[in-house]
Amino acid sequence: MQRIGVIGGGTMGNGIAQVFIQNGYDVTLVDIRQDILDGAIGAIKANLERQVKKGIISADDVQVVLMRVHPSLKLEALSTCDVVVEAATEDPKIKLPLFAGLDSLCKQECVLASNTSSISITSIAGATKRQDRVIGMHFFNPVPVMSLVEVIRGLATSDATFHSTMELAKKLGKTPVTVNDYPGFVSNRVLMPMINEAIYCLMEGVAEREAIDTVMKLGMNHPMGPLALADFIGLDVCLHIMEVLHTQLGDDKYRPCPLLRKMVAAGHLGKKSGRGFYDYGK
Ligand code: CAA
Repeated sequence: MQRIGVIGGGTMGNGIAQVFIQNGYDVTLVDIRQDILDGAIGAIKANLERQVKKGIISADDVQVVLMRVHPSLKLEALSTCDVVVEAATEDPKIKLPLFAGLDSLCKQECVLASNTSSISITSIAGATKRQDRVIGMHFFNPVPVMSLVEVIRGLATSDATFHSTMELAKKLGKTPVTVNDYPGFVSNRVLMPMINEAIYCLMEGVAEREAIDTVMKLGMNHPMGPLALADFIGLDVCLHIMEVLHTQLGDDKYRPCPLLRKMVAAGHLGKKSGRGFYDYGK
């Protein structure tokens, strides 16, 4: 497992590519837009240069590490990869045809992993003829910093695929945790209702936004309060995951907070749009 493919040059995709190249793997990074690929390489370079300033790596290391990433606009560039990690837009209408395409062009033994945060791995695998070699590899933002990888087994994921993926995550210096294929897996089944409840607290006037975040930071030792974290993740992403939990588990305890819906409708998506529960300027 030396040649890795990463699909998607956004925040998750470029973070995933960075941890692979920093651990000695060759990465083909594919996106459909050149500006996103350029942005991804720029983000990786900036992160590596920050490590140079801190004395963690040398300036020469940056050049060596960057030479391991090969950006491409063509999916066919992944045909020789041993593992492909998909971090494309979180939409089954995009991911399922993408996996069908990967299945027909990637070599037979290639493992196809998805970084999905909420789409069923079993349904993604169902779009391919290699259901035993499809698995979830769910990284966390910021990927170079967060040590967890949720490894999600679909209904037909083989033991061989599961064990090789666990090993791969360990080789990246991450801690893999095994999870079965349920809506939201473990991470978002627990995290998103907490964030949603914090938004209800704000909507109902239980406390001001800073107070809600301070309670969770100082009272529970969370590095970020839930409202700041929602802004960091993206309010559209939070809403989408709540809708998945609500629809697929069928329990009203997962109903998305009306204020969350309103914020998304207004285009206040958090840090990425410059405004969410907090203001981030331009
Ligand atoms: N990329 C790379 N490195 C980054 C980074 C980024 N985007 N942001 C911060 N860092 C690094 C910094 O360089 C710093 O490194 P050193 O320790 O080597 O100095 C370290 O992270 C800490 O950064 P800061 O001192 O600037 O800031 P901080 O101490 O406030 O930490 C944080 C920032 C790591 C983001 C922290 O606030 C945190 O852990 N927040 C919670 C993040 C979280 O919960 N993520 C999961 C979101 S859910 C998800 O991703 C999955 C999903 O399905 C929705």
